[in-house]
Amino acid sequence: MRMYDILEKKADGGTLNKEEMEYFVRKLCADELPDYQAAALIMAIYTRGMSDTEAAQFTDVMAKSGDQVDLSGIRGIKVDKHSTGGIGDKTTLILGPLAAACGGTVAKMSGRGLGFTGGTIDKLESIPGFRTALSEEEFVRLVNENGFALTGQTANVAPADKKIYAMRDVTATVSSVPLIASSIMSKKLASGADKFLLDVKVGSGALMKTAEEAKRLARLMTAIGRENGRETEAVLTNMDRPLGKAVGNLLEVQEAVEVLKGEGPADLRELCLYLVSRMLVLGGLGTEEDCRKRAEKALADGSALAVFERFVICQGGDLDVIYRPEKAYRTPVCREIRAEKSGWFTVVSAEDIGKASVRLGAGRLAKEDAIDYTAGIYFRADVEEPVEKGEVLCRIYGADESRFDEAEMILSRALRVTEEEPEKKPLIEFIKL
Ligand code: URA
Repeated sequence: MRMYDILEKKADGGTLNKEEMEYFVRKLCADELPDYQAAALIMAIYTRGMSDTEAAQFTDVMAKSGDQVDLSGIRGIKVDKHSTGGIGDKTTLILGPLAAACGGTVAKMSGRGLGFTGGTIDKLESIPGFRTALSEEEFVRLVNENGFALTGQTANVAPADKKIYAMRDVTATVSSVPLIASSIMSKKLASGADKFLLDVKVGSGALMKTAEEAKRLARLMTAIGRENGRETEAVLTNMDRPLGKAVGNLLEVQEAVEVLKGEGPADLRELCLYLVSRMLVLGGLGTEEDCRKRAEKALADGSALAVFERFVICQGGDLDVIYRPEKAYRTPVCREIRAEKSGWFTVVSAEDIGKASVRLGAGRLAKEDAIDYTAGIYFRADVEEPVEKGEVLCRIYGADESRFDEAEMILSRALRVTEEEPEKKPLIEFIKL
């Protein structure tokens, strides 16, 4: 086999077969392929696209390029929920314990923040002592004991994806739907869950800015899961505005706890109840209606919160810090952003809210940057509702006040008070495939 022939085939619009993909991935991972040939194939995929079956096979080959987690020692159907990333998305912290409290099994592998979107591992590391690098044995044991455990991706999950992603980043091919879908799903397949629920975010704070693009991605990821023998469902959810009121690591953990106590913002609670019901249905635990009732009860009677608290303690976290952050952190500096006039509180760019929180220290600008776990933004006013002149719209927090002016300037691009009532988009759209 020759790389030249593979390139010629794809550049001419042909469909690659599995042997050709295996050849490419093997050579790529062994560093036996010149960068120009790898980049040329990626560009050919970008321009020519991939059929569903071709993308499914490519994903499988990438998933098998590194470690594959063996979850066979865990009882029950393991259902994984994956979000394509957004602002203030702390649903994993709620769904894992909530599903477990309802009889589900969640063995979750999560990542760190990427660009302007947060990552579950960073959020959990805001709890001092919390261990996010579990051995496979401990991970399996904790899921069996508590119904839920969470670990970081090992360095060797889908190494082919790492190389391809790095190359996409510098060849203007990041936005290709087959490349995004195969990248995400390769890591999912390698993580060993039986079934997947995909929360595909759409809007100004998401990877996919329009419903059309998001549907294309959702459809292809679902097909990839199915063709690889894993039942997969997708939901489109609104990311034109942050989810909940808190953006920033410790702030988001605290807000997740509020929801687990049966309180918290209505949009976050509603999305979690919807997603957990679908997870439980996928896990064979009843109808959506029954599962939702069970989940509402688990939030009301404290059983979901009890699973969360056991989860934090079992993974070494100091639970008390969530309730009394001053035990571990200096109280952050706070600045209030107020409405300059009366009107409707509107978010024009959720992405800029994410960027402002990164600027405050909640995320990284460079890979080696340290995170300020207390940094972030907390919305006081309800988005898409009326506000009065002088009312506090949000508070910004962080240890380093010198970052506040820039964060406030970014936020001023993101937030508006408008005379016209903004269009309210639905929070959830279930995709039937
Ligand atoms: N997340 C991924 O893992 N890969 C992509 O290509 C985009 C988002």
